[in-house]
Amino acid sequence: MATNTDIDSARLLREQYKDGSKLSARIRLHQRFSTNRYGLMRWMFDHFRIPENASVLELGCGTGILWRGSVRVPPGWRMILTDMSGGMIRETRANLARLGHRFTFAQADAQALPFRDASFDAVIANHMLYHVPDIPRALGEVRRVLKPSGFCYAATMGVANMREIDELAARFFSVPRMTESTARFGLESGEAYMRRAFSEVKLERYPDSLVVTEAAPLMDYICSMRVRSRVSDEQVADLRRHLENEIAVRGEIRISKDTGMFVARR
Ligand SMILES: C[S@@+](CC[C@H](N)C(=O)[O-])C[C@H]1O[C@@H](n2cnc3c(N)ncnc32)[C@H](O)[C@@H]1O
Repeated sequence: MATNTDIDSARLLREQYKDGSKLSARIRLHQRFSTNRYGLMRWMFDHFRIPENASVLELGCGTGILWRGSVRVPPGWRMILTDMSGGMIRETRANLARLGHRFTFAQADAQALPFRDASFDAVIANHMLYHVPDIPRALGEVRRVLKPSGFCYAATMGVANMREIDELAARFFSVPRMTESTARFGLESGEAYMRRAFSEVKLERYPDSLVVTEAAPLMDYICSMRVRSRVSDEQVADLRRHLENEIAVRGEIRISKDTGMFVARR
């Protein structure tokens, strides 16, 4: 039976992703201030082992960021992009309309995929498995819909990701960290789930960091997170003053990143 905490967390998740506005604030910070200019999405495409003619399923596609950058999508790929949020699907459809690739869209929960067994060459689940209440069930679904030769790609963050932001969370918001994502399905905690679901699992890491030179986009990032609903306006104002002061004195704020992707063979 669902507890009050489960119901609360499902409500916050729906609110967080009812549309792409909060996610876009976080993506903007990474796009503007990441030191590795190669690009995470381009790097992911380098690691895909997907045939030239293939059916590709994406779970939790968000605003469709994976497909929007300078990536080469073979003309023989048919992509089905899914997300549990109807608002996200509407935005992604609009965001990708002009690309001309063979996209179709569907609202779907990763824990109960409306697709036949062994129907995809690849399933991509980027930065979303940590939101899924029953992770083994979702990975069981991924395995079921993959062809025997298929691969699952799941990007996520490690515990050291943006640890400076967690230090600010502890100091200004009195919470141990801004988000529980890496504890649920991170580069460390996710590996055991992946090994239980798939025959071969490899972890690839993408080296990167942030050098942020403006306080406002960093505050937008922090305020886009679920923690915002648990802290007062005064706490937020204190943190804002601190960040503005840091930038005025040092000219920048350096933030570590720890990101990567599991590449798993069915
Ligand atoms: C952090 S965003 C990541 C979006 C995108 N993959 C990216 O890398 O930018 C997480 C996405 O997962 C979706 N999501 C959360 N739980 C889900 C579930 N159980 N099934 C499908 N999608 C889910 C959310 O609606 C949101 O769009």
